[in-house]
Amino acid sequence: MTPFAQRYGSWAIVTGASDGTGREFARAIAAQGINCILVARRHAPLEALAEEIHARNGVDCRTVTVDLSTPRATDTIGAAAAGLEVGLLVINAGADPHGSRFLDKDAGAWLDLSQRNVTTTLECCHRFARPMRERGRGGLLLVNSGACYGGGSFMAVYSASKAFMLCLAESLWAELRGDGVDVLTLVLGKTDTPAYRALLARNGAPVPDQMASPAEVAEVGLARLRDGPIYNWGQSNDVAGYAPNSPDARRDRILMVDRFSRSTFGG
Ligand SMILES: NC(=O)c1ccc[n+]([C@@H]2O[C@H](COP(=O)([O-])OP(=O)(O)OC[C@H]3O[C@@H](n4cnc5c(N)ncnc54)[C@H](OP(=O)(O)O)[C@@H]3O)[C@@H](O)[C@H]2O)c1
Repeated sequence: MTPFAQRYGSWAIVTGASDGTGREFARAIAAQGINCILVARRHAPLEALAEEIHARNGVDCRTVTVDLSTPRATDTIGAAAAGLEVGLLVINAGADPHGSRFLDKDAGAWLDLSQRNVTTTLECCHRFARPMRERGRGGLLLVNSGACYGGGSFMAVYSASKAFMLCLAESLWAELRGDGVDVLTLVLGKTDTPAYRALLARNGAPVPDQMASPAEVAEVGLARLRDGPIYNWGQSNDVAGYAPNSPDARRDRILMVDRFSRSTFGG
């Protein structure tokens, strides 16, 4: 058994495992000999991934077809994980599928985003981290976005939900670091996923030149799990990055992000 599997086995849960970074997290975790519970809405790609990683790595897989924006999602995942020792939780699904101004969508769309990124994330961390604390080992990896550091147009609820995730991860890191449970929020920039490409296409925006690869994101994220609470993708530890705190600096940052958002989404 690898040291990684000793610390985070014997089962991992990966949300949003049917494509992009989630699929790569599952592949990388399975390569360490850890069994996987794969979660997303589409059944077929989850089953294909389960077969692939079982054949390649010999690990067991369970698939959970569920919409994380629905109130019973955590119970559905919990039922699939009943009786299993879950040592690693990767909250990966969490992008904004809309790229829209707050008032240009029905409130229901934002409530769904909030339910998935805030409520289901909170519930899953609570449910699966408790047994980790009792066992004295485990890991929580919350995939985040530079949007967590402040708002901007076209990202009101997305950035708010990611800010929640940032503070949750920082707090859990502080609370659990003496209990053998590692907590990391992995703050990503532009990453070449099907969801991001679909968002760009829907908005008629060009595909950026430089994007992180999902496989690299998964590899680096898992390697950084013991160095929480935050890793800002592609940045050294001593760079404050997206996170200045004075009101002037935050205003400048919002306007900088705003220029990026407007060039991507128009208006
Ligand atoms: N891509 C980027 O440029 C970028 C930049 C910054 C941060 N991030 C972060 O990276 C993470 C992954 O992003 P991503 O671009 O791959 O898009 P994503 O939509 O967060 O992830 C795609 C995966 O999540 C699943 N999923 C989405 N909504 C779901 C729901 N309501 N219920 C269950 N499963 C759901 C999708 O499968 P189904 O369709 O089968 O459900 C798919 O497996 C997110 O947390 C995002 O915020 C991404």
